Amino acid sequence: MALSPTGCPVSPEAAEFDPFDAPYQLDPAEALRWFREQEPVFYSPKLDYWVVSRYEDVKAVFRDNVTFSPSIALEKLTPAPPEATKILEGYGFAMRRTMVNEDEPDHMERRRLLMDAFLPENLEKHEAWVRELVRDYMDRFIDKGRADLVGEMFREIPMTVALRFLGVPNEDAKELRKFSVAHTLNTWGRPSPEQQLQIAEDVGQFWKTAQTILDRMCADPSGEGWMYDSIRMHNRHPDIVPESYLRSMMMAILVAAHETTAFATTNAFRTLLSNRESWNDICENPALIPSAIEECLRVAGSVVAWRRIATEDTLVGGKKIPKGGKLLIVQASANRDPRHFENPDEFDIYRHNSAEHFTFGYGAHQCMGKNIARMEMRIILDEFVRRLPHIDLVEDQSFEYLPNTSFRGPTSLWVEWEPKQNPERRHHAVLENPTLFHIGAPIKEDIVRRVVVAEVKREAEAVIRVGLVDPHGRELPDWTPGSHIELVSAEWRRYYSLCGTRDDRNRLSIAILREPQGRGGSVHFHDTVKPGDILHIAGPKNHFHLDETATRYTLIAGGIGITPIIAMADRLKALGKPYVLHYCGAGRRTMAFLERVERDHSAALTLHAGDEGDRLDLPSALSSLAEGEQVYACGPERLLEALGSLAEKWPEGTLHVEHFTARSNILDPESEHAFEVVLADSDLTLQVGNHQTLLEALTAAGVDVPSDCCEGLCGTCEVAVTDGSIDHRDLVLSRTERDANDRMMACCSRAAGKRLTLAL
Ligand code: HEM
Ligand code: FES
Repeated sequence: MALSPTGCPVSPEAAEFDPFDAPYQLDPAEALRWFREQEPVFYSPKLDYWVVSRYEDVKAVFRDNVTFSPSIALEKLTPAPPEATKILEGYGFAMRRTMVNEDEPDHMERRRLLMDAFLPENLEKHEAWVRELVRDYMDRFIDKGRADLVGEMFREIPMTVALRFLGVPNEDAKELRKFSVAHTLNTWGRPSPEQQLQIAEDVGQFWKTAQTILDRMCADPSGEGWMYDSIRMHNRHPDIVPESYLRSMMMAILVAAHETTAFATTNAFRTLLSNRESWNDICENPALIPSAIEECLRVAGSVVAWRRIATEDTLVGGKKIPKGGKLLIVQASANRDPRHFENPDEFDIYRHNSAEHFTFGYGAHQCMGKNIARMEMRIILDEFVRRLPHIDLVEDQSFEYLPNTSFRGPTSLWVEWEPKQNPERRHHAVLENPTLFHIGAPIKEDIVRRVVVAEVKREAEAVIRVGLVDPHGRELPDWTPGSHIELVSAEWRRYYSLCGTRDDRNRLSIAILREPQGRGGSVHFHDTVKPGDILHIAGPKNHFHLDETATRYTLIAGGIGITPIIAMADRLKALGKPYVLHYCGAGRRTMAFLERVERDHSAALTLHAGDEGDRLDLPSALSSLAEGEQVYACGPERLLEALGSLAEKWPEGTLHVEHFTARSNILDPESEHAFEVVLADSDLTLQVGNHQTLLEALTAAGVDVPSDCCEGLCGTCEVAVTDGSIDHRDLVLSRTERDANDRMMACCSRAAGKRLTLAL
């Protein structure tokens, strides 16, 4: 049996793994499915790399760019034969470190100096001409009825956008276009010795052309564009932006910007046109385009695997990696990890956390051009859903891919349509009022799904159950116990736990308590909702996961808190796990789902009806927790607070709670103070004003921090804190976690003093 460099036996599956075999080339996420579950980090003898497949492990590697150096990111995977090296030498080829493969501290100093042009506020000015460009390309084929979108548009636009962003004069652009493909095969492919020679010629030509253009730009560096910015920075700080960087970047940036975006756009169109209902939804509501693009980048990204090298003996996902061990971190696999994405194999443009994909990488080296790529892709899609909503994929076409480990997208994409049906032939207004997208990650408010109320049923005094279905009769997304959806109206968003049965994929059920003292939504809802109404929802999402590995469970529901708990009880019963269920309420008449709970969970149930004098005595109910037992509770604040106090003596991770509402999410600038945040990984310093949250300040600076509830309830916006004292305002962290002072919720918590340092 083969052994890994750390002396461990290599499993038969790992021994067989070869990314150049058909399964990985066809679908890398699928090819790694077995590994994701069974052997998430493994040594591949055929590649001599350690392959990392799970979300959290991929993230950990991306995050620590000192232990896991990016220096091999652009190294040739298949070494060049001496003849090819000679050819390259003949062209003066001298590719050195750029940015993506530069170590610290040089990388961050350089990135900061050259970041300005990529900031959201500086990208806005490019939108209008990008749209013009897209229209111009579409005009060329809109009346033809058939087109290869890759050849006629998707390869062209990202190159033109990149060249203009860089400031490269138009007359030079043509030459550069010819050669950029060679770089992919040269870096990530496994070319034969003969192919190596041809590739070396092409790469050499590419290099030479890029140098000639650069020389001209250097001779008069007064032009506009990022390459000119870089030349000027080189003149001012030659130590931080050296000439070797300029020379290498002139070529590398085109690869970074061109094929990545061209492939991503192609993959997105193929995915959307193969999921016609999603395409139709976008045609109806183009505000969904940003979230649809992120979901496409998640399931069909154009960069599927990236590389790092260990600078010391270390661990990834508990597996020993020796110093010098090379890692293939497979983003496509992480993007399908069920530990992070609910129903990861489902394509769902309404998914709330698609933008947490790793297709743009993560951490200090995260793609600087992500918002340019997003802008291009969104504008292209917006123009298509307006001007050619009726296109179809040409049936039975075959898709070819360049064989390589990392860049993925077909070399052609044929579509057809009936030109007579082009909407603009009937009304020219199609071209007016295009959708204006904000720059950056999708806006949460835009990711809403339309559903129809199918049923409204009284469940108890002041509680109704509402059944929701898709307007077109389609299945709704699967969900796990503890999940909730949000009802969204123009004025408010409210969380409701899902309480139906998961077997019925056509229906989502929620229970709503009429709360006259509440914020108004529930009363209005009770009074007006009726079958046939159209509602907007976000989710399902789950911040109250049931850990199915515990030995025993105590479930505690207070009042309407029964909704997530009932789904958990159903699941535990189905799994055959031991559990007890305490259900407390003011009286039987107010307790929803009583009949169902008594019918399905009678053996586990203890009922505490207040008006019968039966109150839950928490200390005695929880006095003898078994080893490995977990407690799940949802109910009023005082119940959860009492549980929180008891849990201080329990092992970490025993208590899981779901709060109904945040304490207060209203920021009063009068009583807040401004503070400074230092982002250690990005080497940035930001000011958080007394009128804004930390999350708002981060987003404004182009730093994507995922967020969801924005009320301190869900834990999505957690950031790690390395220095400074925190004023915690969330309901997520336990007292012990707060005292540790090493993480905070960016949406609501603030600095207790003047400054915080974050590991971002
Ligand atoms: C880095 C993907 C478009 C410029 C990266 C990385 C990935 C990536 C995976 C490495 C991240 C890491 O090591 O953590 C993509 C994808 C794109 C895209 C999927 C399109 C869909 C662009 C565009 C530009 C660009 C349009 C420029 C106009 C860069 C630069 C870096 C980079 C400069 C290096 C950042 C650093 O190391 O600090 N990109 N990219 N990318 N990308 Fe992109
Ligand atoms: Fe939910 Fe911050 S976004 S806790």
